Amino acid sequence: MRTSTPARFRSTLIGAAAATALAASALTGVTTAPAVAAPSPDLSVSNATAHLQQFQNIATANGGNRATGRPGYKASLDWVKSKLDAVGYATQVQSFSTSSGTSYNLIADWPGGSAENVVMVGAHLDSVASGPGINDNGTGSASILEAALAWAASGNVPRNHLRFAWWGAEEQGLLGSNHYMRTLPTADKDRIRLYQNYDMTGSINPAYFVYNDNAAGNFARDSLTAYYDSKGIPWEYTDPQGRSDHASFRSYGLPTTGIFSGAEGIKTTAQAQKWGGTAGRAYDPCYHSSCDTMTNLSSTAFDRNLDAIGHMIWLYADKTFSTLPGGNILANPGFESGATSWTGTTGAITSSSSKPARTGTWKAWLGGNGATSTENLTQTVTIPATATAANLTYWIRTDTAETGSTVYDTMKVQIVVGGVTSTLRTFSNVGTNSTYTQFTHSLLAHKGKAVTVKLLMNEDSTLQTSFVVDDTAVSVS
Ligand code: PHE
Ligand code: ZN
Ligand code: ZN
Repeated sequence: MRTSTPARFRSTLIGAAAATALAASALTGVTTAPAVAAPSPDLSVSNATAHLQQFQNIATANGGNRATGRPGYKASLDWVKSKLDAVGYATQVQSFSTSSGTSYNLIADWPGGSAENVVMVGAHLDSVASGPGINDNGTGSASILEAALAWAASGNVPRNHLRFAWWGAEEQGLLGSNHYMRTLPTADKDRIRLYQNYDMTGSINPAYFVYNDNAAGNFARDSLTAYYDSKGIPWEYTDPQGRSDHASFRSYGLPTTGIFSGAEGIKTTAQAQKWGGTAGRAYDPCYHSSCDTMTNLSSTAFDRNLDAIGHMIWLYADKTFSTLPGGNILANPGFESGATSWTGTTGAITSSSSKPARTGTWKAWLGGNGATSTENLTQTVTIPATATAANLTYWIRTDTAETGSTVYDTMKVQIVVGGVTSTLRTFSNVGTNSTYTQFTHSLLAHKGKAVTVKLLMNEDSTLQTSFVVDDTAVSVS
């Protein structure tokens, strides 16, 4: 069957701006600021518990919740802001609209540190409407607040710039953190060297999960697991995908990690053996419920994770980023900023809901027209001359209306180096995979050179083939 009209809406104007290398500066991080190498702090769990009690009191005074569009949310934000303002943070309140009403992010910058090397620490501050949200996410919010206050009191001079974020409307679908990343200028996104996410850290039947969500963030993941090891705390990896506020950072290709003590998932027997608690029961039986109150807590997990968070902040405040591996240098690699940094066919980068993105909302959808067409997308990066590894990775999902084993429609993954085009892989209507699959090609042979990454699609006159690409990266170390 012939598709008579193009299968998708093509109206987005693609940016023709020259491609920007995302994190070339990740390899040349400024390290001139004086830094005090500080030991890991023993953050005060009684202070952090008092912050939790404040969230509980705010909920109690405001109809039992701190949800988006309800007064308990703004009251929580105003209170956190006042604590930070009092000790010298530069705070900003960023408002955005949601279907439940206006919400707000609170962003707090500690003055100083290298502006080119920003270490971000975030937690969502909103609860669901059904309860006060003490474990979800009073715990993360109170912990990063206590860490921020302790940092201010420590007198430490950070090498890097520390930025804390309390996100709004996470429970509505990560709206606050998505808003932050969508509106942050590209140059500022590219200065973020690490985003750490803390969403649920005191679950009463606790797990100790470390986000293993992003190859670029493996260095920070490894710091968390090494910390737990040093304390004799068994841990497991988790990949929370689109379930918390790291997602928009991860989608952009920035290093992310985090910790999570578990929500509605059920503790296994093996987990109960190593972590204590009750097998066959949810990590947080009051998840998203009215009983997520001050009694819905493991004070041990809350305390241990508070210190883990402190360790990560103190460690990364002073990290020399020029030596860290694994930076992605492709800008807007998950297409979540639309056409930004990519050049080529108008509308090929789309948030159309008829093909799902692998993560986030946007992806590159080439083909799908069922009509004679050629489409392309390109971006140029420079592989550092000193690279010891350089890998192009991407996820692709293909489907077709063609049948049989004759190739009619193709998408080539190519690189252009010094005017010479090479094809790394050709996808076609034959052997479509209909589920996202990842491919990797080494670019190390081109170190020291500008490499244009190119997706080139050709479709014949009838029967569509769709090539949907998401979550690309050129990871160099
Ligand atoms: N973000 C989820 C919530 O707030 C909790 C969660 C965090 C779930 C991390 C999975 C992984 O409800
Ligand atoms: Zn929640
Ligand atoms: Zn949460």
